[in-house]
Amino acid sequence: MAAPRKVAFVLSFLGLMSALSSEASTDIRKIRELAARDNVTCILVFGDSSVDPGNNDYFTTTVKGNFPPYGKDFFSGRPTGRFSNGRLATDFIAEALGSTKAIPPFLDPKLSRLDLLHGVSFASAASGYDELTANISGVLPVYKQLNYLLHYKVHLRKLVGRSLAEKILHNSIFVMSMGTNDFLLNYYIDPTRSAQYTIEEYQDFLVTCMSSDIKEMYRLGARRMVIVGIPPLGCMPLVRTLAGTTGCYENYNNVSSLFNSKISTRLDELRGTLGIKTVFLDANKMIMDAINNPQKYGMTETSKGCCGTGTIEYGDTCKGLTTCLDPDKYVFWDAVHPTQKMYQNVTLDVDEKIVSDEICAL
Ligand SMILES: *[C@@H]1O[C@H](CO)[C@@H](O)[C@H](O)[C@H]1NC(C)=O
Ligand SMILES: *[C@@H]1O[C@H](CO)[C@@H](O)[C@H](O)[C@H]1NC(C)=O
Ligand SMILES: *[C@@H]1O[C@H](CO)[C@@H](O)[C@H](O)[C@H]1NC(C)=O
Ligand SMILES: *[C@@H]1O[C@H](CO)[C@@H](O)[C@H](O)[C@H]1NC(C)=O
Repeated sequence: MAAPRKVAFVLSFLGLMSALSSEASTDIRKIRELAARDNVTCILVFGDSSVDPGNNDYFTTTVKGNFPPYGKDFFSGRPTGRFSNGRLATDFIAEALGSTKAIPPFLDPKLSRLDLLHGVSFASAASGYDELTANISGVLPVYKQLNYLLHYKVHLRKLVGRSLAEKILHNSIFVMSMGTNDFLLNYYIDPTRSAQYTIEEYQDFLVTCMSSDIKEMYRLGARRMVIVGIPPLGCMPLVRTLAGTTGCYENYNNVSSLFNSKISTRLDELRGTLGIKTVFLDANKMIMDAINNPQKYGMTETSKGCCGTGTIEYGDTCKGLTTCLDPDKYVFWDAVHPTQKMYQNVTLDVDEKIVSDEICAL
């Protein structure tokens, strides 16, 4: 099976599966056995709408996805706050580990003890590495997400005791996925940062923010991290529409590639100085591959979203609209966010070239 192999690669990079041998025999059961052996029981998630399962449902903001047609293909067709038709990449990682099929938002008042043990997401749609990005939309900046991690630690200690709580955290996989909004909702729209920085200087600023976030997470107990790069910004249906291009808008795609390479370089440095395990997932390369070779993924529509006209609608403007017949044939669910099918593939599958790139990066 190709799909779980990807998770196996990620885990082996994190030093979780030293004994991972014949990849042909790596199925989900094997991944679960190995995760169990290495005591990986928990996933903690930070970032934006790419990994927010619905934290924004629980405070006042206009950035929500908790109404139809969002969640149309989620269990029981229920909207949750996830900006997709179903589950997110992090939900599929959790499922492969065998802990849970969906990672709940930390702000959900109905969180169970089991949820706390298996992992939660602190992510907030419309957030970014730059605190100003979250401020613009009134959502949770990273420092608030990390504040909630402190609350989480208190709950976990009450549940299992101080020393086991510490152990669970050290063994947890910390996922961080954001950056898109720093460009699309901040730099290219709000005059503040573009007056302070050139686009390349701004990227360096964001990488500095990421670096201090990682150091703070380390201080709070993180030892295993997965950092997800930004997708090809220029290929988002919304960007294509606004730029008036039928193909991808090259200028923005170049920003994605450059930013991701800067993240990856900084991670190499942090791995050395902090002695943590990190994996960089290049969402740009993965989604570009689907856009360039949709037939490989069983897809047919790479330039339009499934919601409404597919050219501009996302969030509120997608509310209550009709959708395409088969979202599995689409890379994008709305004019900005990928379909569940794309998320599943980003997580669970990747062609050999990308895997070997990752090996080189380590
Ligand atoms: C997993 O936990 C067990 C029991 O606490 C311990 O003996 C073992 O060393 C741990 N393994 C890893 C890889 O942390
Ligand atoms: C974001 O908002 C908070 C609270 O109003 C403020 O203290 C902080 O300086 C703002 N950050 C930026 C970068 O604008
Ligand atoms: C994007 O990057 C490519 C490859 O580096 C370069 O050839 C091209 O001119 C760049 N395009 C824009 C619009 O910056
Ligand atoms: C993901 O894409 C690959 C092609 O790269 C395909 O072989 C595989 O079946 C897809 N997996 C899923 C779960 O869609």
